[in-house]
Amino acid sequence: MTLELLKPLLESDDVIIDGGNEHFLETRRREQMCAVDWFAECGKKIHFVGMGISGGAEGARHGPALMPGGSEFAYNSLKPMLEAMSAKAGEKNDEPCVTRCGPDGCGHYVKMVHNGIEYADMQFIAESVVLLRDVLGFDNEKQSIALKEWNNGDLESFLIDITAKCLKKKDDDGDDDSYLANKVLDKAGSKGTGKWTVQLAADAGIAIPCCSAALEARYISAAIDDRAKCSEMYSNNAEDLVLESSKTSSSSSTTTTTLNAETLGKALYCAKIIAYAQGLSLIKSAGNDYGWSEDLNIANICKVWRGGCIIRAKLLETIVRAFTKEPSLSNLLLDSEISSIVKSRVGDLRKVVVEAAQRGIASPALMNALSYYDNMKTKRGSAYIIQAQRDAFGAHTFERVDKEGKFHADWY
Ligand code: 6PG
Repeated sequence: MTLELLKPLLESDDVIIDGGNEHFLETRRREQMCAVDWFAECGKKIHFVGMGISGGAEGARHGPALMPGGSEFAYNSLKPMLEAMSAKAGEKNDEPCVTRCGPDGCGHYVKMVHNGIEYADMQFIAESVVLLRDVLGFDNEKQSIALKEWNNGDLESFLIDITAKCLKKKDDDGDDDSYLANKVLDKAGSKGTGKWTVQLAADAGIAIPCCSAALEARYISAAIDDRAKCSEMYSNNAEDLVLESSKTSSSSSTTTTTLNAETLGKALYCAKIIAYAQGLSLIKSAGNDYGWSEDLNIANICKVWRGGCIIRAKLLETIVRAFTKEPSLSNLLLDSEISSIVKSRVGDLRKVVVEAAQRGIASPALMNALSYYDNMKTKRGSAYIIQAQRDAFGAHTFERVDKEGKFHADWY
């Protein structure tokens, strides 16, 4: 409707920007409408740019990360303005956080995956805070200090920084001296980009379990009443807790843990890398599916994410290096620098996940990060059983390791 209102006011080579979190298929449709239908109708060349923008209120004031998609002509005509308004990153803090992601809906797709990674990143941090609280017994002040320490090292990121601040904030509205975060209802909202990421990943046949787990954790959180009932029904089941200390203690906090804040920080870092591996694989696959591959440059996209946006983090420098070295890298986990980091920290992630499972502390995103890693490094996993079952009950056929072709057998 808005485009129809604008139409009579436009001249050839005008550019329209949609800077919202729009679904990329809508952007693709509108770009085609302007470039093809309108051109046929009135001979005017109108350029439609779907531009992902990240950074919230602060980004709006001081510079966001910009992820435009559209024609090269449109990008070049917008470039000086976009570069001036964007956040800056890099060693000298002078590299504009904007790049042409690719044609038509590519910019909105990239922004959508940015949000999918954002969901995973937020959930990892939230789970880590709960582990600091319930395994290490840290109060808000100590949780905040732990996050600040993480933020002084490899884990430096916008989301850890603001979480450390949120944890310390006192409740101005209450009649006691308590922390505001502790009064926030444990029920997460969402506006749709995380769901789109999971839906489109499923359509593409790409696994992004960390993002899915984060999305589903939000959905489970919303089942407040059932959770309250389940908590009453199941909380005293000693058979469920395999740690002796947890069986005897009413609070799950105990001194017998093998975890500390440093282990947890290393686990969090490892999980973050795994979530990026998933999200970036999804962008790569969309490049093939939607004809964007020639333009898509993962290193440039990750450069844009280093400043202004919600997922900005020091880790992105390492990821940029990986894709600069090898632009066709099919999965981030295959980069040599990344693999040595993952190898040195995955033991910490495993420790954290084991302890969370033993204590019955829900940590779905961290757990899914570990199982993605375990799946990816397993040469012969469980899928051969799935294929045997499918062929046995439905004659769906299977392939063999020793001969080419499709086979069917009488299994029973
Ligand atoms: C950003 C944010 C922004 C918005 C999210 C919130 O990059 O600036 O991602 O786009 O805050 O869409 O999403 P949910 O409401 O789904 O958490």
